[in-house]
Formats: sequence, structure tokens, C-alpha cells
Amino acid sequence: MRQRIINARVTFHNSPIHVLERFAIRDVGDAYEQFRLHSDLDECVIIQTCNRVELFARTGPGGTERLKRTWASLTGLDEVAFDENLEMSEDDEALRHLLKLTSGLDSMVLGEEQILGQIKSSIAEARKTRSSGRYLNTIFDKAIRIGTRIRSSTGIGRGGISVGSMAVRLAEENIDDMKSKRILLIGTGEVSTLVAKSLLRRGYAFDVTSRTLGRARAFCESLGGSPVRFEEVLSGFTGYDAMFVATTAPYSLVTFEKISQAISAGRTGGSNGQDGHLRRGMMILDLSNPRTVDERVATLPGVKLMNLDQISEMVEKNLTARAGKARAIEDAIKEEVGVLEASVRRLAAEPIAEHVFKKIDALREKELQKAVRALDETDPERISIIDSLTREIVESIVSPPINNLRKASERGDSGVIALAGRLFDYGGGNDGEADADASTSAGASDPDSNDPSSND
Ligand SMILES: NC(=O)c1ccc[n+]([C@@H]2O[C@H](COP(=O)([O-])OP(=O)(O)OC[C@H]3O[C@@H](n4cnc5c(N)ncnc54)[C@H](OP(=O)(O)O)[C@@H]3O)[C@@H](O)[C@H]2O)c1
Repeated sequence: MRQRIINARVTFHNSPIHVLERFAIRDVGDAYEQFRLHSDLDECVIIQTCNRVELFARTGPGGTERLKRTWASLTGLDEVAFDENLEMSEDDEALRHLLKLTSGLDSMVLGEEQILGQIKSSIAEARKTRSSGRYLNTIFDKAIRIGTRIRSSTGIGRGGISVGSMAVRLAEENIDDMKSKRILLIGTGEVSTLVAKSLLRRGYAFDVTSRTLGRARAFCESLGGSPVRFEEVLSGFTGYDAMFVATTAPYSLVTFEKISQAISAGRTGGSNGQDGHLRRGMMILDLSNPRTVDERVATLPGVKLMNLDQISEMVEKNLTARAGKARAIEDAIKEEVGVLEASVRRLAAEPIAEHVFKKIDALREKELQKAVRALDETDPERISIIDSLTREIVESIVSPPINNLRKASERGDSGVIALAGRLFDYGGGNDGEADADASTSAGASDPDSNDPSSND
């Protein structure tokens, strides 16, 4: 029964953000438990960002269907919804996809950095709950290293391209003379930081608001902008020409009523029309997912509302412009995917290697103690010399065959692995892969710790 690495994903490529939201898994800890119980996954890692919900798993035949069923029951969706939105990859294609993620090739904003941090957090969480094991830990660790290397060798991340900078560019495309305009940033999180950096780089002044004035102040101290009270802003929005909204609020912060009041106050130069500033329109960029700006505001005259989907369209243009770099990343991935596949194949030999090292070391230790007793040796320095001698003898006898076993495993030579299992009296495994049972229990261990020939 061959175990496979699979990837199941719903992303912005195939599904608009409001559809994507419905596939989001609210309680990831519980989801890991449900996938383990009902989908029979050996290992699982969930990655969720504003633009994607993805699962990587190690499973046997039938795992894909069971995974879909559990995912549907976790989200309350009909399984039919998955037919229209879900993409699946297996084995080398799943590995290739993970490299596209870590290198930034699959991101809405080509080469953006956030996805790398999000993947690191996802694998850390999976490790902590022991949802990932020997296979996915190795794959993710290596994919993160490879992705980082590709980013720096192709220079794809240079220039600080991010959702934030794309949003600011979008505002620039739609608003004349941004420098003279009043800009508001709602939120002080990760995305707001990206927006603020981009505004600052371009020399635009802006206000920042957050539920706590202290947080807005601290944000402005390190990232620029002027802090303003949340209640003050929410009561009106008057006087602003551009608003960037990036919060995780689960309801509409920017309502139809408030914007409509703000627009009429601006037109009449009303109570809050600061500096006699008569606004002709207002641009609102809602970067939140789920959205925190009431979509009906787009129907108000003079209001232009843009959200993540529109940024995605802009990014398509960005992709074309950066196609040269995208090609360079694709070429690098083509080369690296083979390295990653070999690492995965090599894991099949690890349980045997561990078994052999453990068994021989126990024997060595027993014989060492016997010899120390027979010699009546008590000098720690002399005991340490004998200890090192026995270790080196064992290492030099055992390492060559084990390294050959690892090489055979890298080539996918399951015959050699099965034979080694018999020769070394290893009882685990039933599928030509020696550690079918060991994979989940290896969660926190470093699979490369015994591994002198690791190439990353
Ligand atoms: N991270 C990404 O790569 C990315 C990319 C595209 C879009 N997005 C979307 O952008 C939004 C912000 O993401 P983030 O990564 O910046 O999140 P984050 O770092 O967790 O920051 C969340 C922000 O939301 C504010 N907030 C939370 N609940 C609120 C409420 N009830 N009322 C008002 N403000 C509230 C927080 O304000 P306080 O300081 O007052 O707590 C904080 O400033 C999310 O909807 C996310 O889905 C994220």
C-alpha cells in the first residue's frame, strides 16, 4: 500500500476571495484531529492565508476522497463545491507546488515575502500538534530553504513588492496628485505595516487608526503617519480621500451609512470638511478577508471601492511585467524538485538506519561496560578513551552500508530497502517503505540528525 504526498488547495487562482473564504478552516487544531480521525492521513499540514486554503498530507489510496469529505464537514460545505474550486496535486507535482509557494511564484504578488512566514508558522503549528511527521517536516524544512535560496538568486523579492505596495499603486492609478490628498489607514497589523511602508517610501502623509490609540501611536512611531482616535474616525470618515482598510474585524467597520454621510459632508464643505477641503470622491481599498467594508458603498456616487480581487487583477499585469523573473524561478524549481524528491525517497531508509544504529549502540554499550568491569577500570579519562574507540569502530563498520542504503533509497530502489529490512531484522513497515508506521511519531525529531550527507 503505497503512501503518497498530496496537496489539496483552494486558491485565488480559481476562486474569488468571497468563495475562498467559505473553504477556510476556523479551528485548525480541531481540524487536525478530524483529519487524523476521519481521513486517515498519516501526516497533515494546513496553510491558510487570505489567498489560499491548502492541505499537504501523506496518505494511502482513497485518502483524497476522505480528505474532501472531512474538509466539507468542517466547513459545512457541500462536496459539490469542492468539484468547482479544489485543485489537487500528488507526489512530484505536490512538491513542485510547495516550491512555488515558498519561492513566491504562486503568490498573488509575485515574490512577496509574507507567504514564506505563513508557511513557517504552519509547519511550526503542525509540528507542535504532531500533525506533521518525518515526511512533511523534512519536505517543508527543505522547501523553505530552497524557496529562500531561489528568492535570493533570482532577486524576485527585491523592491519590496507586497500586497501593501500593490494597493498603494492601485490608489495612485486612480487618484490624481496623491501627495495633496488625505489618506487614512485602518489597522496596525501585518498588512497595514506593508501599506504604511509603501506610503512612506513614496512620501505620502497618512493617518493611522486602531482600536487602541496606544497601538496606533506605537505603529506611527516606527512606521510614520499620525495616530487618530478610532471612535473619531468611525463616527465620520469625513475629510479622507483614500482609505486603506486591513483588519481582521469579523463585521463591516466601514458602513454604507457612514460613507454616505461623509460624502455629503465633503460635498457641502460640511461640519467636518477639514481645511475647507472639498472632496470630489473617495477611494477605499479593502485589503481585508473577510471584507470589512460594506460593499454597498461602491454604489455611492464618487466612491470607488476596491478589494483583494481587484488587486489580484493588477497583479496579473505585474506578473506579465515580471515574466522574465517568473521564468527564472520556474527553471530553478525544475532543478530543485528533483533534489526534494530524492530527500523524500531517502526517508524510506531512515527507520532502518535508526533501528540499526540503536541496536548496535546498545550492544556496544553493553560490551563496553563488561570490558570496564573486567579491567576494573575507574579512571574516567581512560574509560572515555575506550568509549571513543568503540564508537569509532562501530561508526566505521555501520556507516558505509547505511549510506549505501540511503543512496539506494534515494534512487527509489525498494528492493534494497526490503532486503536491508530483512538483513538487519527490522520489523516495521508493510509497503516497501520501511517506516509507514513511524512517520507520525517522528514529529519533533530532526530527520537529518544522523545524516552526514544532507545536501541543504
Ligand atoms: N497577511 C497577509 O499576507 C494578508 C494579505 C492580504 C490580505 N490580508 C487580510 O488583511 C487583513 C489584515 O491582515 P493582517 O495580516 O494585517 O492581520 P493582523 O496582523 O492580525 O492585524 C489585524 C488588525 O486588525 C485589527 N482588528 C482586529 N479586530 C478588529 C475589530 N474588531 N475592529 C477593528 N480592528 C480590528 C487589529 O487591530 P488592533 O490593533 O486594534 O487589535 C489589527 O490592527 C485580514 O483580513 C487578512 O485576511 C492579509
